[in-house]
Amino acid sequence: MTSLPKGTDISVQERRYPTTPASMRSFLNAFFARHFFQVQDSILQPEAFERFCNLLRKGEVNIVDIGSGPAVASLAVLDLINAINESGYRVRSNVNIVQNDSSAVCLQSSTNMLSAFRRRTGGVCVIRDPICIDVPFPDSLTQIRRISSFIGRYDLCFVSYVLDAFKKEMTHGEIGLRIKELLGCCADNGLCIILQDKFRESLIRQAGRLQGASVHKARLTQKVYDNENSNAEQLYTYFRTTVMLGSESEDHGVLTRFCLQKKALMRCF
Ligand SMILES: C[S@@+](CC[C@H](N)C(=O)[O-])C[C@H]1O[C@@H](n2cnc3c(N)ncnc32)[C@H](O)[C@@H]1O
Repeated sequence: MTSLPKGTDISVQERRYPTTPASMRSFLNAFFARHFFQVQDSILQPEAFERFCNLLRKGEVNIVDIGSGPAVASLAVLDLINAINESGYRVRSNVNIVQNDSSAVCLQSSTNMLSAFRRRTGGVCVIRDPICIDVPFPDSLTQIRRISSFIGRYDLCFVSYVLDAFKKEMTHGEIGLRIKELLGCCADNGLCIILQDKFRESLIRQAGRLQGASVHKARLTQKVYDNENSNAEQLYTYFRTTVMLGSESEDHGVLTRFCLQKKALMRCF
């Protein structure tokens, strides 16, 4: 992040949707950690986590991330795999990552950050070079489909903090239908996580409803280093929809907080 230029007048819009190196720095400062931990928090819910562990056991995991930004969701997944490995349970999985973002700066940063992660961790997982699609969603669906025809269906699908951007181009109903099309490229036992902040509740509720999944209001407390570096705690509220693909049940609502407990891991590996 220190290699990115400091911006003086970064607007709220630029910070949320970075298109320059300076606004990327600002995004990383303001949102990266928040969204990263919300992705992990969503995966760590009992039913989702069990499915996640089963996917890892397959030996090959394909991730598709729409509006990927600087690889936020993929890095959250890789960090979780690392944590599982460090706890003594060896996960030997090849990871294919498909990043879709309409901003070239985001795709460049995501590639750099994934390379840095790979260098730093080494790990037992083979993280292949990410495949980047710069065509905006939903036009990107053609490429997403084509890629899945040679790497295989997607096991993990993320739509994190991008619904609001879609709203400028599509109606709520259309967004839901396009996400449904995206889920058509996902594996039967796959997992799709949609996240959005508390200010876009109706948008995520509709998107979730159209996928037959309920939406949950979640709270996550994080330590943040503010300008005074005072290590303050902040409580963030967000909404998540977890779609369990191919599942009999339509509603996977009652998911409670879950941690990387040895017992849970033992069940899965
Ligand atoms: C708020 S950021 C979220 C980034 C990341 N998913 C996260 O959770 O932190 C939204 C991202 O979506 C991208 N984006 C906006 N509209 C898009 C579209 N139609 N298709 C693909 N990406 C889009 C922006 O460039 C930006 O990187």
